[in-house]
Amino acid sequence: MSAVKNINYGLDIASIRAQFPVLDQEINGKPLVYFDNAATNQKPKMVVDAISGYYEGYNANIHRGVHTLAEKATKAFEATRIKLHQFINSAESEEIIFTKGTTESINLVANTYGRAFINEGDEIIISTMEHHSNIVPWQLLCEEKKAVLKIIPVSDSGEIVYEEYLNLLSEKTKIVSVVYASNSLGTINPVKDIITEAHKVGAKVLLDGAQATAHLHIDVQALDCDFYALSAHKMYGPTGVGALYGKRELLEAMPPYQGGGEMIKDVTFEKTTYNDIPYKFEAGTPNIGDVVAFGKAIDFINETGKAEIARHENELLSYATEQLKQIDGLKIIGEAKEKVSVISFIIDGIHPFDIGQMMDARGVAVRTGHHCTQPLMTRYGIEGTVRASFAIYNTKEEIDVMVVGITKILKIMSIS
Ligand SMILES: Cc1ncc(COP(=O)(O)O)c(C=O)c1O
Repeated sequence: MSAVKNINYGLDIASIRAQFPVLDQEINGKPLVYFDNAATNQKPKMVVDAISGYYEGYNANIHRGVHTLAEKATKAFEATRIKLHQFINSAESEEIIFTKGTTESINLVANTYGRAFINEGDEIIISTMEHHSNIVPWQLLCEEKKAVLKIIPVSDSGEIVYEEYLNLLSEKTKIVSVVYASNSLGTINPVKDIITEAHKVGAKVLLDGAQATAHLHIDVQALDCDFYALSAHKMYGPTGVGALYGKRELLEAMPPYQGGGEMIKDVTFEKTTYNDIPYKFEAGTPNIGDVVAFGKAIDFINETGKAEIARHENELLSYATEQLKQIDGLKIIGEAKEKVSVISFIIDGIHPFDIGQMMDARGVAVRTGHHCTQPLMTRYGIEGTVRASFAIYNTKEEIDVMVVGITKILKIMSIS
């Protein structure tokens, strides 16, 4: 895209963009501006090549084979587990369980830890800003176990009301499950403090890391969270793959999630014994090619540099915030002090869906709607927002395209 300029802190954005062939296209006759990164970000060529490399070069089922292809596939699959273990600094690679993504990881905990250890009258705390995938699994569990779901409120600026969280905590609290970085508001929650306080009453803490993992430095040991859920497709990796981190002693105490191949040690009709972690939770043939490619996505982030990525995205967030604030009638939803590169807004008199469509006509991909956070939208008395979310390959020039586009839409509609 011709408008790309290098930004002045060591990152060569043009050469980063060149690694993402999908960005080099026109939509409705205009250069694509992809600002839907919180839904899923684009994949560098090394990730796409890893998928075809697996199928063209060494497709085989893993773990049980002795032939060369099976060994090669197993090695590549397990290499991703080690990379992810290092990426989030778990104590051991066995604490990493591959799943379909954040949603499945949270459901796994609710269905195993939850079913085994939650009893009638116990309390589970979540917040108003949770994604539906960190609400519904706990509602299902509470319904089954007659447990109680407690909700931390969110302030007008989009931060959890910390004192209210402290008030909700008691010896009845068994699980606290909160989002690290909100997909709708961008808010980064004070998860270290949340975890410390939860542990004081003996509760376990799950962090929904779907949005945080590609943007923030993640150290699950330093955080001391009990579980951490993530999705590869929000980390420049493929869809259909993610992971659950859990502390060894918890994973070992939990019953299996699904039954089938791989998760067993011995099967007889009288009694089946289960495999060690992580395999106890990985029943059936996994998504091998995509797990291998997930490893390449982690390489991409490491090679680009997490700190550099964060710096670039923060720069884009500040610039977009400044520019959007100058538009009359535009209101930003979510102005927390600490944010990842997500900016949600509404405009007086225009439905977010209409803005989304008119932006698409200009080649700009933004997301509109409730972003799977309906209770949060209800909190703000709105149906939805327009959301622009930025990744490493985005530029200030692209933000200008969006801002000029919105201004023109307002002029055409004679709102401004
Ligand atoms: C904060 C948050 N949690 C959970 C999810 C669910 O992730 P997945 O659909 O990859 O399972 C998302 C996806 O948008 C999210 O943004």
